[in-house]
Amino acid sequence: MNFDRRTGWSVAAGVTVIAIIAVYIREWRHGDARSEVATTGAPARIPEKASAKSREDPLASPRSLRQVGLPVELTRKVIPQDNPQTPEKIALGQKLFFDGRLSADGTVSCATCHDPALAFTDGRTASIGIHGRAGQRNAPTILNALYSDAQFWDGRAKTLEEQAGFPITNPVEMGQPTLDAAVAAIAGIEEYKQAFQTVFGRPVNGANLVRALAAYERTLVSFDSPFDHFIAGNKNAIDDSAKRGWELFNTKARCNLCHAQSELARDVTNFTDFDYHNIGIGIVRHKVVPLAREAQQKLATGNLNDIDRAAIETEMSVLGRFLITKKTPDTGAFKTPNLRNVLVTAPYFHDGSQATLWDVMDHYNKGAGLQNPWLDEDIQPLALSESEIDDVVAFLASLTSAEYKELGDHELKRQRALSQTNRPQRDTKRAFGPKIPRPEPPR
Ligand code: HEC
Ligand code: HEC
Repeated sequence: MNFDRRTGWSVAAGVTVIAIIAVYIREWRHGDARSEVATTGAPARIPEKASAKSREDPLASPRSLRQVGLPVELTRKVIPQDNPQTPEKIALGQKLFFDGRLSADGTVSCATCHDPALAFTDGRTASIGIHGRAGQRNAPTILNALYSDAQFWDGRAKTLEEQAGFPITNPVEMGQPTLDAAVAAIAGIEEYKQAFQTVFGRPVNGANLVRALAAYERTLVSFDSPFDHFIAGNKNAIDDSAKRGWELFNTKARCNLCHAQSELARDVTNFTDFDYHNIGIGIVRHKVVPLAREAQQKLATGNLNDIDRAAIETEMSVLGRFLITKKTPDTGAFKTPNLRNVLVTAPYFHDGSQATLWDVMDHYNKGAGLQNPWLDEDIQPLALSESEIDDVVAFLASLTSAEYKELGDHELKRQRALSQTNRPQRDTKRAFGPKIPRPEPPR
């Protein structure tokens, strides 16, 4: 299996054999490739610290390219020419991803916050790095991150290569003074010396370290959900509630205005416009103006390491995309996330402020419900009934890939139980009321 999968990845780098992959996909639908990726039992939301052991978890393996719904052509296109996929590079990247020795005190790896058993998230509101230090933001999944044209909630990194350097040197994440310090920490290890020599033909260096990490991340493609089987023609792959939810998503609930590549055609692949919007999360109006002023001063040079620290460590984090562009309309705007596997990546939003998908729906249903001068014009009360909310949640749950089915079943039960006792965001009066005019931005 492993051989097969890796062969898949090395050919993906070339153009010629895409046709073969397409044939595989057709074959796969009749085969048993589903068993290729094992599922785990349902763990608690917050696991033990990720250990080297999770590298052996089948969920940590490069994924098969033979998945229903996987966009073959796009997957090939997003592999950069200057960092082609090779089996050896991917294996090296996987090793590095799970290696705590890249952090300043040897305890925190990428997998600490992006745990394969939790769909490459950490289940926390905001992530915790070395010395138990908490950041400001919720860890997004790495699954399907290869398709994004910018990384992080505010898009401050353009590529996965560029992204990988930031957590290594962020003081509350992996805490290294420089990327070279992380290089020094592993450069003497025989296993790495040999692997870097084989893959890149030279000793360990920072540029190649992040290349290997990115190559591994580009194998984390996750499709093959009930929804994909539905779109592929199996009308019974999702239930009637999820079908109604998919209709609502594209109509009355207005989700497609942002969670689709275009408003003109239904997006069945990534569920995002790859753009930034203020949808009213974590915006506390009286703080924003002084924070924006502070950001203008402290981040004037546009130094990305300073921006990274502001985003992860300071209250300026709430400014979102503004930290990068310094444009007023970007105040509190964040990247529209891909919705695949969203059921198993709770809690939600850039600050992890919402516990369940019902809370997310209540937020949208009332049109954010905040006096927020930067709120996206497309956010408005939706007048969704309780059963319509359940339908949209059922649709979102149908985006859970086969390898997370058990975790998803467990999570849906957990969230449903929570939502039955607690709906902190529900505001029916607002949801069925008029759109509230947006206040003028303060000066
Ligand atoms: C201490 C926890 C922590 C560690 C360690 C960590 N991350 Fe993250 N990661 C996060 C958080 C939190 C974010 C979101 C931060 C933001 O958007 O400002 C993130 C964002 C990302 C993203 C962007 C995903 C997206 O959809 O925008 C990628 C890719 C990523 N991390 C990969 C890595 C890699 C590779 C490593 C190891 C070199 C790593 N992370 C280490 C917490 C962590
Ligand atoms: C105006 C654009 C816009 C619309 C309309 C919109 N979203 Fe979003 N969505 C976003 C953005 C931007 C975020 C991230 C916001 C943040 O974290 O501050 C987001 C976040 C989410 C999340 C959290 C994902 C995660 O990983 O934390 C879910 C779930 C979600 N949206 C579902 C929906 C659904 C369902 C609808 C329709 C009812 C909808 N969205 C409508 C832009 C939009």
